[in-house]
Amino acid sequence: MSELTPEVLISEEQIQSRVLALAEDISADYADGGELVMIGVLKGSFIFLADLSRRLSIPRTIEFIAVSSYGNGSVSSGAVRLVMDVRGNIEGKHVLIVEDIVDTGHTLKYLIGMLKSHRPASVRTAALVRKAESAEVDVTIDYLGFDIGDEWVVGYGLDFAEQNRTLPYIGVIKPTDG
Ligand code: IMP
Ligand code: MG
Repeated sequence: MSELTPEVLISEEQIQSRVLALAEDISADYADGGELVMIGVLKGSFIFLADLSRRLSIPRTIEFIAVSSYGNGSVSSGAVRLVMDVRGNIEGKHVLIVEDIVDTGHTLKYLIGMLKSHRPASVRTAALVRKAESAEVDVTIDYLGFDIGDEWVVGYGLDFAEQNRTLPYIGVIKPTDG
């Protein structure tokens, strides 16, 4: 089986400058105080969370949560299952959910509801990518990197069957001839 190199959709430079802009917005919005806890959604958000959190100019702590919705396939089942909850206490804190990509919106909607039950001071959302045409539920993304069409993307944390997560850019896998 031949190795397919994904075609660049969003370059490393585009990602880095957008992440910096988002970090500046977040730093300004939370500058007035309160405790900010960034909650990364495993596994896909790990690189976005690492870059975004290191560009903030305000104090913050990091938590992770894991959900499962698709298995290894690429079709949304709509059903979201919590695989790992946050470990720290988030009551009274400002929560920022950090997601890699919002497709149907089911995952983010579930997470917002679930985390609100822990009685945080606020819940906001950041996502690197959104597939605008694929939305099935209405969910607000407070800090959005990029809108893309309905295609499967990999890189910068995103995978296809666990492959290509560590590419520095976001790419699309195109089948080659022969
Ligand atoms: P949603 O619940 O349909 O919004 O799905 C969100 C989750 O599906 C994301 O957190 C990803 O883990 C996964 N996902 C959706 N589209 C893609 C993609 O194009 N590449 C990689 N993962 C994706
Ligand atoms: Mg995800």
